[in-house]
Amino acid sequence: MIITICGGGNAAHTLAGLLASQKGLSVRVYVPFGDEAERWQEGVQRAGGITVYTPAGEKSGSPQLISRHARQAVAGAQVVILALPAFAHESTLRAIAPYLESDAWVGALPARGGFDLAARSALGAHAAHLSLFGLQTLPWACRIQQYGSQAVVLGAKEQVDIAAWPSAQAPVIAAQLETLLGVRLNPIASFLSLTLADTGQIIHPGMMYGLFHAWDGQPYPAKVLFYQSVDSAIAETLQRMSTEVQALRSELAKRYPELDLSAVRPLREWMLRSYSSSIVDGSSLQSLFATNRSYAGLQAPMRQVEGGFIPDFQARYLAEDVPFNLLVTRGIAELAGVSMPVIDGVLTWAQARLGKEYLVAGSLRGADLKASRAPQRYAISNLNELMSVNNNLQLPIGGLSYEF
Ligand code: NAI
Repeated sequence: MIITICGGGNAAHTLAGLLASQKGLSVRVYVPFGDEAERWQEGVQRAGGITVYTPAGEKSGSPQLISRHARQAVAGAQVVILALPAFAHESTLRAIAPYLESDAWVGALPARGGFDLAARSALGAHAAHLSLFGLQTLPWACRIQQYGSQAVVLGAKEQVDIAAWPSAQAPVIAAQLETLLGVRLNPIASFLSLTLADTGQIIHPGMMYGLFHAWDGQPYPAKVLFYQSVDSAIAETLQRMSTEVQALRSELAKRYPELDLSAVRPLREWMLRSYSSSIVDGSSLQSLFATNRSYAGLQAPMRQVEGGFIPDFQARYLAEDVPFNLLVTRGIAELAGVSMPVIDGVLTWAQARLGKEYLVAGSLRGADLKASRAPQRYAISNLNELMSVNNNLQLPIGGLSYEF
């Protein structure tokens, strides 16, 4: 089997080493960014391959090809995996589209919200016979140790949700990828579920808002602990954001009873399910965060300046989780006519910190929406249309009102 990995960062290195160590797999890497292809080739040549250090031992192997050219890297591949930050998904998909095999599986680790919308838009007619897949999160916390030759897995998830389009492909793709990645994959009903179920979209922007919305601009003497700083006010914000997502889930379930949205869990339920053995005190949402041993010691994204540390508002907790997660959910809510006042408050604050404009007078029509994955950005202007593209439901579709 030929597998192509797109990307040259932490996730791509880890994936390349883990897959190339397996017999019968031919691993290629598509890495067009900067001088990464040359650096990666040099690293592999110097070390004789790429080694990944995992808690279960070392895995080593050599990619068959590392290239900055899409045709070389992608033609003939049965599986193409984007192991990239979400902002690079669309440009990468556009570059590889002409060379994809017509029945290839193309997916992202992690998918983030609205990956299927972005993929169909970027791939155009090439998407017709492909299968798309997306994982809820990256299965590993991982870092490059030596560019092109060494990566380390700091921890692995026990299980990860996976969605596919067409949705019937999810169990088939999950079974194959589970063996390749060595991680339990749980097929869920649709990309719509994957988008709404993402709790990072609540936790990361909600926590950043909670910690820093009243920041006075003065440096902190030390970096602030992230999860262990959750107080009752922050927990209340997170709870209300989760309740708003659940209200959207209920509205969609009422209007489309055939949808399976069981993967879209309230935050508290998700925390207990994901971290049952690491939580010391499960009595409140605040204590679920503050006493979760898996979160102990993790710091807020901050950067050093003269006199201390200031919040890094360009870090992924806002820069990725807002345009590629929370705004997608907020966009679906707008199509469904479900209001999200607390999420709007967080988004209004976050867009100012990011220097972007998404929400204008309570609706998603800001100038920077074109660099998000909200459905409005893909000219989807009503819920039936979203359901048709997302879930293959046959529904009457109205005219398109958004164009960018
Ligand atoms: P990374 O920061 O290591 O990825 C950077 C790579 O992305 C670059 O080396 C380059 O190959 C590519 N890239 C950057 N800008 C580009 C552009 N303009 N065009 C094309 N390619 C570009 O990211 P990492 O750590 O590999 O993470 C990938 C995704 O996984 C992210 O969404 C991240 O939030 C997520 N994730 C990562 C975890 C980790 O432990 N590394 C854990 C959980 C999630």
